[in-house]
Amino acid sequence: MNLILLGAPGAGKGTQGEFLSKRLSIPVISTGNIIREAVKNETEMGLAAKSYIDSGALVPDETIIGILAERLSQPDCAYGYILDGVPRTVVQADAIAEMGITIDRVISIEVPDEEILTRLGGRRVCPACGASYHLQHNPPKKEGRCDKCGAGLITRKDDSEQTIKERLRVFHQLTEPLKDYYKKLGKLRLVEGIGPVDDVSRLVLDALES
Ligand code: AP5
Repeated sequence: MNLILLGAPGAGKGTQGEFLSKRLSIPVISTGNIIREAVKNETEMGLAAKSYIDSGALVPDETIIGILAERLSQPDCAYGYILDGVPRTVVQADAIAEMGITIDRVISIEVPDEEILTRLGGRRVCPACGASYHLQHNPPKKEGRCDKCGAGLITRKDDSEQTIKERLRVFHQLTEPLKDYYKKLGKLRLVEGIGPVDDVSRLVLDALES
């Protein structure tokens, strides 16, 4: 099964992506995580992408399409995958279609902007494996430590209030039109993203079966 998770920054794509990955035994492909890893390792792509990420802008489409083509060619993608945070523009969606990829479902996690602004203030992430937590809604078992790999958790640089507002602006302008794009193809399902994480996960599973 090939899935896309759409939604505003902080809507819960990463959280639900991890859940679905365990449940369906298919990998999550997060372009955000791939780029942050490249920034950390100071690769050529990472150095070029850093200023876009830090300011809340989108990384250029050609870079994203290259990252995606390379990642999807790896053997663990043979039986399906979950795309988290990609596509984010119509150009990226067209490129995915041109790669001959069939998308089975597009789940859009719906959360209003006001909730996003408060929610992202409590996010903590693992710089080693990319796992995402929330101080109140999804805390790690041991304070400040990743459940999966034990690394110290950090606050993402782009989770400042000003950058969140810019990411939301970019989302509404460039990414939200993808809802119409996939609705026309009959693939889109909307899921209410407010409420306990487990409740949202149940709604996501229902949406996959509908
Ligand atoms: P990316 O890493 O994809 O960030 P994003 O889309 O802004 O989304 P987030 O990771 O912030 O949020 P999320 O929806 O995954 O929510 P999460 O589960 O963490 O992209 C970052 C940057 O990379 C972009 O700005 C861009 O520059 C670049 N980029 C990446 N892909 C690109 C592309 N395709 N094209 C161009 N540029 C690209 O949850 C958020 C918080 O809420 C967590 O703390 C979580 O624990 C908590 N939470 C989750 N669910 C709930 C719930 N139900 N109730 C309460 N809290 C909850």
